[in-house]
Amino acid sequence: MELNELPTIEVELVKESKIASVDFNDLPFGKTFSDHMFIAEYYDGKWQSAKVQPYKEIALSPACNVFHYGQAIFEGLKAYYKADGSGIVLFRPEKNAARLNASAKRMSMPEVPVELFMDGIRHLLEVDNSFVPKQTGSSLYIRPFLIGTEPFIGVRSSDRYLFIIITGPTGAYYDEAISVLVYDSYVRSTKGGYGNAKAAGNYAGTLYPVKLAKEKGYKDVLWLDGEHKKYINEVGTMNIFFVIDGKLVTPETDGTILDGVTRDSVITIAKDLGIDVEERQISIDEIVDAYNAGKLTEIFGSGTAAVISPVNKFGYKEKDYPLDETKYVVAQKIKENLVGIQKCMLEDKFNWVTQVN
Ligand code: COI
Repeated sequence: MELNELPTIEVELVKESKIASVDFNDLPFGKTFSDHMFIAEYYDGKWQSAKVQPYKEIALSPACNVFHYGQAIFEGLKAYYKADGSGIVLFRPEKNAARLNASAKRMSMPEVPVELFMDGIRHLLEVDNSFVPKQTGSSLYIRPFLIGTEPFIGVRSSDRYLFIIITGPTGAYYDEAISVLVYDSYVRSTKGGYGNAKAAGNYAGTLYPVKLAKEKGYKDVLWLDGEHKKYINEVGTMNIFFVIDGKLVTPETDGTILDGVTRDSVITIAKDLGIDVEERQISIDEIVDAYNAGKLTEIFGSGTAAVISPVNKFGYKEKDYPLDETKYVVAQKIKENLVGIQKCMLEDKFNWVTQVN
């Protein structure tokens, strides 16, 4: 094998599929997995092996970097059955490949060649195409991830890695609008940190504050910036949007928020619909003032898993600010367009959809 050559993908199929046990009308997020997984190994400075194999446990040394220092990054993307039943499509997979590699760079991990990323997904979709749901509102969630696996507990970048892709059919991430607590104590990221990387640690650090928010009756957290505890960052595990005075306003990508694929799609669709979009710093005081003046009409989150999720209440400094999500016309219009493109019911005018089989 030449230095830049990629390993040939071996395929080992399951003896018996679990497809018959999947209830496609009841698919909570992240609980059902397809028959196969993709696994590629990196060592001696290159990608050495790649395989599609039955979905199963992996054995790792307890000394691996991923368990101690958290060299772990991931992606999330979806495959959809076309509404007319004529095949399966991926939504903007090249953006996820690029972001995985941006995260890899920030976490001092090797890049995953885009070809390996795409070939792994294509192979899985070939063997597990029956797991892609046909139901409206459901899709196949694809979770690629990269972990440091060198058995060494010194603090430095691992010299061995596994790149794995698992998939599973899923319905809606949230089944209703969410209420969120605005913290001016806990934060998820700060300037110079790695808030824009899809690193496992970014999510682990949110679990305790989210637990506290739940104890207070909120579903999730609206995060403020790490330095001033003043500027809007993200909501839950999503990018956040506000409709203020008819304009769509969202935090700029300043290195502290995820450069979301759905975020970018929302902005592009909104502009195409003639909605004014502002990407800028937004203070929580501006949001409270806009609310009090009756100018804040919608708040919603965007993400691959959650698509577009309305926020119907935020709590800040012991006060609640409710909103009526049934009146969210901007979020609804954008969602219709986004889902319409993803399911190939509307023209793919931005060239976002890749047919896979
Ligand atoms: C996604 O939207 O794909 C995410 O990665 C969010 C999450 C489920 C962690």
